[in-house]
Amino acid sequence: MLLRPATADDFDFLAAMMLEACNWTGEAWFTLEKARADDKVWRYVEGWPLAGDFGVVAEIDGVPAGACWARLVAGGYGYVADDVPELTLGVSPSFRRRGIARALLTALADTARAASYQRLSLSVDPNNPAAGLYATVGFRKVGVVQTSDTMVLEL
Ligand SMILES: CC(C)(COP(=O)(O)OP(=O)(O)OC[C@H]1O[C@@H](n2cnc3c(N)ncnc32)[C@H](O)[C@@H]1OP(=O)(O)O)[C@@H](O)C(=O)NCCC(=O)NCCS
Repeated sequence: MLLRPATADDFDFLAAMMLEACNWTGEAWFTLEKARADDKVWRYVEGWPLAGDFGVVAEIDGVPAGACWARLVAGGYGYVADDVPELTLGVSPSFRRRGIARALLTALADTARAASYQRLSLSVDPNNPAAGLYATVGFRKVGVVQTSDTMVLEL
């Protein structure tokens, strides 16, 4: 597995991984068109990379397999403070259960730390297996918004 910084060229892949996060149950609730039309969703990738954005892409044999990136999203689903970036995570279905998400989260936390951020946040449905993964890398639940948990990692 190769981990590398996410660049502007990764926009389409990040959008695809965001769709995976939207459709985490396995049902295709969101298409790219629907996501693009929904500002609450699209704001996580729109204009990537904006100043201050950072992210990591995992490649297997030269093929993008997963991505994790973070951005300051005022009023985002996982918002906790103006200076706390909120992350998005997705791994392509055919590459799952190989430790890619865990590696991406660790690399993203390292990047955030190097950029002097104090915390990372996210929003996750407690029924999503990702919630357990986040807990094992140190995220702690700090609140509930509608049906989703807000989690924070102290860096
Ligand atoms: C959640 C997701 C990112 C996990 O990616 P992954 O690369 O398969 O995760 P990893 O291989 O690093 O898994 C690490 C651990 O997480 C847990 N885990 C991951 N997927 C799981 C699943 N489907 N069921 C149960 N546990 C799971 C396991 O404890 C796993 O360790 P193990 O494989 O040694 O048992 C991936 O399934 C995905 O992209 N889902 C859709 C997008 C999404 O839900 N994003 C998060 C939105 S908040």
